[in-house]
Amino acid sequence: MRLLVLGGTRFLGRHVVDAALVRGHAVTIFTRGQNPLPWSGQVEALTGNRDPRIAPGLAALGHGVWDAVVDTSGYVPRIVDASASLLKGRATRYLLVSSISAYASSALPGQDGAAPVLPPVDRDNEDIPNNYGALKASCEDVVTQHFGAGATNVRPGLIVGPFDPTDRFAYWVARFIHPALLGSRPQQAVLPAPAKRPIQVIDGRDLARWMVALLENDIAGTFNACSPEGRWTIGDLIDALVDAAPSPPEPAWIDEATLHAHAVKPWTGLPLWVPSNDSDHTGFMSFDCTKAAHAGLTARFLAQTIDDTAAWLVARDNVGAWKNVLSADTERAILAGDIR
Ligand SMILES: NC(=O)c1ccc[n+]([C@@H]2O[C@H](COP(=O)([O-])OP(=O)(O)OC[C@H]3O[C@@H](n4cnc5c(N)ncnc54)[C@H](OP(=O)(O)O)[C@@H]3O)[C@@H](O)[C@H]2O)c1
Repeated sequence: MRLLVLGGTRFLGRHVVDAALVRGHAVTIFTRGQNPLPWSGQVEALTGNRDPRIAPGLAALGHGVWDAVVDTSGYVPRIVDASASLLKGRATRYLLVSSISAYASSALPGQDGAAPVLPPVDRDNEDIPNNYGALKASCEDVVTQHFGAGATNVRPGLIVGPFDPTDRFAYWVARFIHPALLGSRPQQAVLPAPAKRPIQVIDGRDLARWMVALLENDIAGTFNACSPEGRWTIGDLIDALVDAAPSPPEPAWIDEATLHAHAVKPWTGLPLWVPSNDSDHTGFMSFDCTKAAHAGLTARFLAQTIDDTAAWLVARDNVGAWKNVLSADTERAILAGDIR
């Protein structure tokens, strides 16, 4: 298969390229060329800019024929429209990496691909941080308009594992296995009770391998892509971390009222914490991913993702990391408050 990856050098795209190479496919990537390539000589690397308003735009994609496109870097309908219209007729299938954030609501658990998505925002509105889900939903529409039955939309939940630049899962791995990476930390680790709160994640490598298989089999459709609903709780994650850590901190399960009292921000202030009283997000970690599972998506054991993330964390440059995690000061204050 001749595969074009729009992106490919940061996290998920990198795993897509790896998975495609393992399967013997001919891979072309298209990026701005800002990241080093780990595949010397094995990949055709085209440079440009996905935004046609920024020279040289998509000129490097002006010719060439591919069996499939994987778009890991599409966030804005206008920009996705530029690549999809340019590649229509020169690629058989276009797989867009969308997101479960495209859904109109995550209040209810068990939503499948038929649940309503967010309505479009104004055409000129390209504010990704504030309209990420709505823009993704519109990007899906654009791909479907151009590719019809050749469109595949994949809506992942939280993607984790090596090369994840967000630190959402990596924080927990570091906290238990390499706490020194987070500076000086107490012997107890603050955890958001209750331990039975569901979590749903997908290792980027499992997702990538499955997406490549979808393309090999020319599978159309829209898929939620995550671990099976109900498979894991945050307690399972902590148990796996304790098992993996040579000298784990002592788990301190903290009730949500205390976290709120210390002004801990859900998700961005304590990764993976979605408060139980946030009724808009009750189903955020409980999407129905059965369709993807039936199409071959599997989720590896947490222990594997933990081990490989831990190894990657010590190899990477941690300068500038840990921006959206619990600070050591807040962690100490919470623990001290517990004792009072
Ligand atoms: N992380 C999650 O938990 C999560 C959950 C759901 C969905 N998703 C979706 O999963 C995808 C993950 O993306 P990723 O960052 O891991 O993909 P990636 O393909 O590994 O990295 C992004 C690539 O896009 C390239 N790029 C960025 N801006 C560009 C531009 N203007 N023109 C050309 N190339 C450009 C970057 O290279 P250069 O910098 O060199 O240009 C890089 O190669 C995203 O679509 C995200 O919305 C993520």
